[in-house]
Amino acid sequence: TTPSAPRITVFGTGYLGATHAVAMAELGFDVVGVDVDQSKVDALAAGKVPFFEPGLPELLEKNLATGRLRFTTDAASAVAGADVHFVCVGTPQQRTSHAANLAYVEDATRVIAQHLTTDAVIVGKSTVPVGTAARLRGLVAATAPAGLDVELVWNPEFLREGKAVGDTLHPDRIVLGGASPQAEAVLRTVYAAPIAEGSPVVLTDLPTAELVKVSANAFLATKISFINAIAGVCEAAGADVTVLADALGHDVRIGRQFLDAGLGFGGGCLPKDIRALMHRANELGAYRASALLQQVDEINMGQRERVVDLALEACGGSVLNKRVGVLGAAFKPLTDDVRDSPALNVAAALHLRGAQVTVFDPEAGDTARRAFPTLGYGTSVDEAVEECDVLLVLTEWDQFVGADPQRLAGLARHARVIDARGKLPAAEWRAAGWEFTGLGRLTA
Ligand code: UGA
Repeated sequence: TTPSAPRITVFGTGYLGATHAVAMAELGFDVVGVDVDQSKVDALAAGKVPFFEPGLPELLEKNLATGRLRFTTDAASAVAGADVHFVCVGTPQQRTSHAANLAYVEDATRVIAQHLTTDAVIVGKSTVPVGTAARLRGLVAATAPAGLDVELVWNPEFLREGKAVGDTLHPDRIVLGGASPQAEAVLRTVYAAPIAEGSPVVLTDLPTAELVKVSANAFLATKISFINAIAGVCEAAGADVTVLADALGHDVRIGRQFLDAGLGFGGGCLPKDIRALMHRANELGAYRASALLQQVDEINMGQRERVVDLALEACGGSVLNKRVGVLGAAFKPLTDDVRDSPALNVAAALHLRGAQVTVFDPEAGDTARRAFPTLGYGTSVDEAVEECDVLLVLTEWDQFVGADPQRLAGLARHARVIDARGKLPAAEWRAAGWEFTGLGRLTA
């Protein structure tokens, strides 16, 4: 390897891999993104990001133009030319259990090892159950050509969708698990820019590195379920959870982030990661961690039911033939991702109960329609609000938070709104004539 200018491959061109490949090219390295999906490769090679991620299309185009960044399905040629190989493929939840499906990670690692022609560092970034990396080391040892110096290290990724570019170029920390001094040197070269900017490097072993990742997501999930549990107490006691959260947040030990009560967490990461950790903790006999996370999951899923119930109540006990306007389909703003989206779950549950549901989302309309084709979709806020018996705000896009309640009140059949993300200016909506319900702030 040549630590001064390592050549890089990135296996997997989903959210994580596409962003990582582009970011590595932006840092000045020669990068090849590899995927088994020809359509993803073709799109990226043509400068098209196959999902909505602010800032990424511009950076992709810029780095394709420099010639430093390519995409291919030809793993053999990509691997042969490079020194550092990032594994960025998905680890979805298994269909029949809470465990993570590791087939893609194993396949990518095997393919990399098989095609190596020089010494190399294989860097795992995918989210995996603790113990996986040690097994992958065995796989690499059994698969890589004899005589090569091949190392496998773990370097989890903490990027958020919607902020993926910034999070990748300026990470809060760089965790390196199981790196020899040589591999550490190579990765310090790869990450020289963020390190120079102050991103701390945490050197540790493989299992700790794997666990940092899932613990971080488990903690974030726990914070959200904590505030949602307290929101229930607030409702029962006539308190306001948004004011409470602000007050808690002034304590720097607690912090204000991830204390937004509401519909709870969804997406491709938090739900599956806490379930995989629950499963793994059980396997390891760490039952308390598993029990804690079980509660976190239950509280979270309960929020979706709570919002369905509030909608039913608002419509007098039944939504049959009622018009329900739904603002938001993505699992959070600034993404078109609808994986495990609480918003779509609620919309679908009301549809099942006979409501005529019209969903509007500024970016996730198409992905939502593909996932839930039976729901109605509008192309504007107005279309969702028109003639509705109740309006649900399920994803806190700026354009919903900033909408004019006065104007919208004129469109609704019944000016009733359920703010399931706690971000609408309640007083303004009330002043405009809306019956306003906020989770954890029913009397606010
Ligand atoms: C999450 C983590 O935040 C990233 O650090 C991690 O790298 C990523 O998973 C991953 O494992 O790949 P992401 O799934 O993009 O990132 O979404 P978050 O911003 O964490 O939001 C997750 C969910 O929590 C959303 O549905 C959001 O609406 C909800 N949420 C967030 C709340 O309900 N309340 C809050 O206060 C904050």
